[in-house]
Amino acid sequence: MEELNAAMTSSVIAFEAFGALSDEECFPRIQAARSRLGKRAVILCHHYQRAEVYQFADMTGDSLRLSRLASQTEAEFIVFCGVHFMAEAADIMTKPHQKAILPDLAAGCSMADMANLAKVGRCWRELGSIIDTENRVTPVTYINSAADLKAFCGEHGGIVCTSSNADKVLRAAFEQREKILFFPDQHLGRWTGHTMGIPLDRMPVWDPDLEMGGLGADEIRDAKILLWKGHCSVHQMFQPEHIQAFRKRHPDGFVISHPECAFEVCRQSDHVGSTDHIAKTLREAAPGTRWLVGTELNLVNRLAEEIKSEGKIAQFMAPLVCMCSTMQRIDPQHLLWVLENLVEGNIVNRITVPGHEAALARRALERMLALP
Ligand code: 13P
Ligand code: SF4
Repeated sequence: MEELNAAMTSSVIAFEAFGALSDEECFPRIQAARSRLGKRAVILCHHYQRAEVYQFADMTGDSLRLSRLASQTEAEFIVFCGVHFMAEAADIMTKPHQKAILPDLAAGCSMADMANLAKVGRCWRELGSIIDTENRVTPVTYINSAADLKAFCGEHGGIVCTSSNADKVLRAAFEQREKILFFPDQHLGRWTGHTMGIPLDRMPVWDPDLEMGGLGADEIRDAKILLWKGHCSVHQMFQPEHIQAFRKRHPDGFVISHPECAFEVCRQSDHVGSTDHIAKTLREAAPGTRWLVGTELNLVNRLAEEIKSEGKIAQFMAPLVCMCSTMQRIDPQHLLWVLENLVEGNIVNRITVPGHEAALARRALERMLALP
């Protein structure tokens, strides 16, 4: 281990030389580095990854599947082609000798950045002046959040959820305490609460930039779910008008959306679900069907290509191109750079969560993974 660390500091290959390479120049070198690493490395790719990177995935999936895969792999290096919180979750869920690597450290998530520990801590204290938070409120964080917020949930009897298990997680949380503080995505929280029959007026929005979240004491006492004022800027591009225009032109068509979309978009969709759910629904759909899809463009394009041989059409919901710009940061050049460094014994862009924080965050993640 010490030898490896010594090698790391002496011979790290700088990124500069890679930035000028074309994708085509990268491909055979990625392949070669990949085979030299063999079982020591695994490449996990989220569905939103661009095709040029996705083709090298050993395993793919939505956030839930990827966190399970990360917790099960024995590989020494987990190269995470996704965003920062995903690589953090991989580090939290793996053994100390395993290393999570994010090919470009700038691949964050703007939604995850909408909540931080200082603001959530303040919210918890302010709520505590009105209600007995420790006995009456379960903090639930969407997996799209920093490790310290997962740790906050672990410490306060809370839990993590993803877009594919939010209903199960919320049900489990309600069995334990009567209220939920849900962060950072108000839309996933609202949609999930709505599908459970909770009226919208009992799911007020907590604005972290206002005193008491901008809510009155009665609103807080009456709330079932307090929704953090956060959102995904990619999924905000989809509008109910896009669905209405589609239905006018294609009355027999179907609409499917990700639950990060605004409430009205979800309400007007025929199906709402995670990226895995969207992929499965389109793959299993009847031949000849047409679909309007409200999620990131890379996934929609990939699915459209895959299902067209059965005469199925997948159409992107927004008229504008909306990719997740942070997912896009992972490109063949960065993937090649981290892999060739690994071949040389250098670990670049390792994501590590401090031990104490990781232990608390693991609690909240394990509570989620233990649900059936
Ligand atoms: P899922 O892949 O879990 O559906 O989530 C999508 C997402 O927000 C990734 O940012
Ligand atoms: Fe974050 Fe939205 Fe990108 Fe998902 S699509 S990683 S929620 S910014």
